[in-house]
Amino acid sequence: MSGKAYHIGIGAQEVGEATLALLPGDPDRVPRMAAALDEARPLGQHREFTSWKGVWSGREVLVCSTGIGGPSTSICVEELAQLGIRQFIRVGTTGSIQEKVPVGAMVITQAAVRLDGASLHFAPLAFPAVADFQLTKALWLSAQAKGIPSFVGTTASSDTFYPGQERYDTHAGWVPRHLQGSLKEWQRLGVLNYEMEAATLFTMAAALGIQAACIGGVIAQRQKSEQPVSAEVIRQTEDQLIDVAVGALSHLELP
Ligand code: URA
Repeated sequence: MSGKAYHIGIGAQEVGEATLALLPGDPDRVPRMAAALDEARPLGQHREFTSWKGVWSGREVLVCSTGIGGPSTSICVEELAQLGIRQFIRVGTTGSIQEKVPVGAMVITQAAVRLDGASLHFAPLAFPAVADFQLTKALWLSAQAKGIPSFVGTTASSDTFYPGQERYDTHAGWVPRHLQGSLKEWQRLGVLNYEMEAATLFTMAAALGIQAACIGGVIAQRQKSEQPVSAEVIRQTEDQLIDVAVGALSHLELP
């Protein structure tokens, strides 16, 4: 793969003039997201990293999947930064832990609780994982303009989907003692949701001197169930998520 970054399967030639990347976790969401841009076309695919490019208001925009969780996100962001990307918007799905945040709503992450391991490789735990204000504001303005219910606040980013998000509906049915009661504690502290990448992305952004933000479409309501909702509702939520995320580009000055 000469001329290509180590893992993501694309190089500077494919990235071209793009300086902003939209980052879904799921490779299948990449072509759907790129289709909301003009001139969408595939660039490459390697492991969990699928890349497409499109054009928005005359500017090239990259869409690349991170895979699930901090380690693969850190690889994706590092290699895209090497290739010239400076603004990163994670566009993912999430589980709400607050009654007021229903399925189908958007959560725009202002700061992330660092329940991951990868961010520790960029900054000590005392360092806060904070979103870029300009990108976050653009996501908020886009959601407002489209009338899609949205909440801005704190997200808990966990390395695990099951114990780290205190799910008992599992093979062992057991959550280690240090995580028992953690969901209630995060609720009490006003945390809106669980997902698995924002803390790594935001901490890396500070360490690398790049900008990052995160928006999540709510596909599980943990007050009601440990399970995500139906495939149909997930699909509808993802459509709105993509609409808001791409709409945010109109509220941004791309460098
Ligand atoms: N993603 C998560 O990490 N948790 C959920 O509950 C749903 C999506």
